[in-house]
Amino acid sequence: MTSPTRTIHDSDDDGIASVTGVESHKADLTNRKATFRYPEETDAQWTPARPEFSWAANALSLMMPHIEPYFVRSMRRVLPQLEPNLAETVRVYMAQESAHHGQHRSFNQILCRQYPKLKPVDNTLRRFFGWLSSRSQPFNLAFTAASETIAYAIARWAAKRRTILFSGADPVVSSMFIWHLAEEVEHKSVAFDVNKKVGGGTVRYIQGLVSAISVWVVFVLIGLVVMGVSDRRVFYPVAWFRLTWWAITFSFDLLTASVLSALPGHDPRNLVDPLWYEVWLREYDFEHRLAGELKQTDRRTV
Ligand SMILES: [Fe+2]
Ligand SMILES: [Fe+2]
Repeated sequence: MTSPTRTIHDSDDDGIASVTGVESHKADLTNRKATFRYPEETDAQWTPARPEFSWAANALSLMMPHIEPYFVRSMRRVLPQLEPNLAETVRVYMAQESAHHGQHRSFNQILCRQYPKLKPVDNTLRRFFGWLSSRSQPFNLAFTAASETIAYAIARWAAKRRTILFSGADPVVSSMFIWHLAEEVEHKSVAFDVNKKVGGGTVRYIQGLVSAISVWVVFVLIGLVVMGVSDRRVFYPVAWFRLTWWAITFSFDLLTASVLSALPGHDPRNLVDPLWYEVWLREYDFEHRLAGELKQTDRRTV
């Protein structure tokens, strides 16, 4: 007889599961110290075997110092409405997102130096997310929760292709992206819980999802094209083949995650996470605990 429960420990990297009756997986949300430093000579094309992956990841990186402070602002505004336990979890979530955008801000200085045409895109992102913050609190929370679904889908997609995508890549930049993706998996349920707690229903969530997907796609495409043109690789058939294939496979993952997240009764804890990130973070935490930079009190179970 098969067991009706599945947890992260049974999972592999294929497929998303959100099955009625599965046991919710509780994760440890940890406030970590990020210690990545990017030397001046770091190449913005940090995946030399597949430069197109650098473009896509860099385009996401460019968005982070603008979209992640927007998430933090949106969540901070509802803190007084939350019960103390959830509010404390949200504070760790905000600390994680703040660490992410701090790292991307440092890395993006290298990007903008090597691709000066990204500077106007960076300025547009700043103005856009500043404006987006002026929208209603319910919209901002739905957009944030939906963006976490997108981030989770990206993490799943990248985990399945990690050996190809990160082959021969710059170790520091790769580690920064993997750390970020791993924490996205770790805090996948927080914005969703908050949105639900303050009355965000399915219709509003779907509005947030459609808006968030449109915004992410538009800005990633702009960044991709700017870097592709600057590298004079836009007319390489292999570049288009890879990008098209990645877009198709990612669309499938994103569609699956989006549909599941909009179903009534959905709980992100029921999604089967890639084990790779959990193992990676365990190693990262072990090293930082040895260095005295991580305490047991920095963790919260969600
Ligand atoms: Fe993040
Ligand atoms: Fe996040």
